Amino acid sequence: MKKYILIIIFILFIIGCDNDFYKNIKDIKNPNDTLVLVNKNNKLKNDFIPDNLVKLDLNYSHAEKYLKEEAALEFYKLSEEAKKLNYRIVAVSGYRSYTYQEKLFEYYVETKGMNYTLMCSAKPGHSEHQTGLAIDVEGSNLDYNLFEKSKEFEWMKKNAHKYGFILRYPKGKENITGFKYEPWHYRYVGKEVATIIYNNKLTFEEYHKKFVK
Ligand code: DAL
Ligand code: ZN
Repeated sequence: MKKYILIIIFILFIIGCDNDFYKNIKDIKNPNDTLVLVNKNNKLKNDFIPDNLVKLDLNYSHAEKYLKEEAALEFYKLSEEAKKLNYRIVAVSGYRSYTYQEKLFEYYVETKGMNYTLMCSAKPGHSEHQTGLAIDVEGSNLDYNLFEKSKEFEWMKKNAHKYGFILRYPKGKENITGFKYEPWHYRYVGKEVATIIYNNKLTFEEYHKKFVK
């Protein structure tokens, strides 16, 4: 228990140290780009809805969820490959509208308080779930919150990039991404970029700084 309190205090400290989060916010100009960067400093328009959203096949999703087609097709391949090893990797969250993000953020603030919410839930317009390129997954232990403890997680860590996905909020990079470690959240960026990010242990923010800006 004490350990967890110390970890939370540490994360709050790191996040609190970075005064740039939610300041100097830029409006995103390329919202349909596979490499679009959405974070605490880059915001999507409230009415932005991605092109080519498809409803996920229920073999790969536990409920009605949507992703951009390219990301969905690669996710199906990933999930099928995992299935060959008797693993189960399914979507529990995909595209989220601006309105849904508003509700989610408010729910977290009401139930967990503002400090915790800022670490784990993006303000409306700042969640990459709005791009249709982000996915939260669950393994055979049936709880996305415990995905790290599932047998699927190690496989996902080593193989997600082969299908174009990156672990978007890695451990120890909270001061760069602005969010606490999320073992269940993956972002589709395409195989080439995902492989560069994986091989160089970069965050998406670092990739952008190095190769895009
Ligand atoms: N949980 C991630 C950061 C989001 O709200 O998009
Ligand atoms: Zn997520």
